[in-house]
Amino acid sequence: MTAPPTILVFDSGLGGLTVLREIVRARPGAHYVYVADDAFFPYGHHGEDEIIARVVPLIGELIAAHAPDLVVIACNTASTLVMSHLREQYKVPFVGTVPAIKPACARSTTKRVSVLGTRGTVKREYTRALIRDFSQGCEVTLVGSADLASLAESALSGEQVSDLAIAAELAPCFIGNGEADPARTDTVVLACTHYPLLMDRLVRLAPWPVDWIDPAPAIARRVSDLLGPPGSEADHSGAEMIFTSRRPHTLSRALMPFFGGRVPA
Ligand code: DGL
Repeated sequence: MTAPPTILVFDSGLGGLTVLREIVRARPGAHYVYVADDAFFPYGHHGEDEIIARVVPLIGELIAAHAPDLVVIACNTASTLVMSHLREQYKVPFVGTVPAIKPACARSTTKRVSVLGTRGTVKREYTRALIRDFSQGCEVTLVGSADLASLAESALSGEQVSDLAIAAELAPCFIGNGEADPARTDTVVLACTHYPLLMDRLVRLAPWPVDWIDPAPAIARRVSDLLGPPGSEADHSGAEMIFTSRRPHTLSRALMPFFGGRVPA
């Protein structure tokens, strides 16, 4: 039996679990290390230089400590800034998470798409370049949300989060006069990995039905392609969950579904 590959999945908090979940489905036999940089959460509230200065050396330490075969930056706010720095400095293969503007615009029939991300992600030159290059004639509205990532963290931690608070963050994505308007927004890019944690509520609170574009399945396919065909690998050492704040693991059981049913230690 071959040794399982180690995949390190990194985010500012719990949002990257939505990406981890898909990767675990694609590669159930791999060894997983999930790192939440909660000591610096939310990344959306930090400046670009601060994020680069935080993430690049931290990833270096994590590579030294865990020797991953592949690192996934499951965070749009970081990936839209740090991928070239990481690839320059470290030899491990990296997969990033950036707004899925190209597939969203290809899919929209009304040609009106919204990109919902952190304030940092929607400001980035990287995101603006994706729109310039791949909008394919669509009108693209950038919506920077100040609080939705924090609301998603609270909801996953079992706290009450009101519909009103979520609906207010969502409202600017919906351009048009309702479901019958042929020029309404019909596609919303989830450009923050935290947002799919609230999927049921986003669907319920949307003023009209839209296509929600979550890049996680495409990221999982990319990871699997880079690793090559799976062998008979199986992970016997268990999944690891690391909080940079070193807070105690009170959520382990609630997080099991994201780890394919394993309790992360
Ligand atoms: N999960 C992160 C993203 O995909 C960001 C949340 C935050 O730290 O602001 O952008």
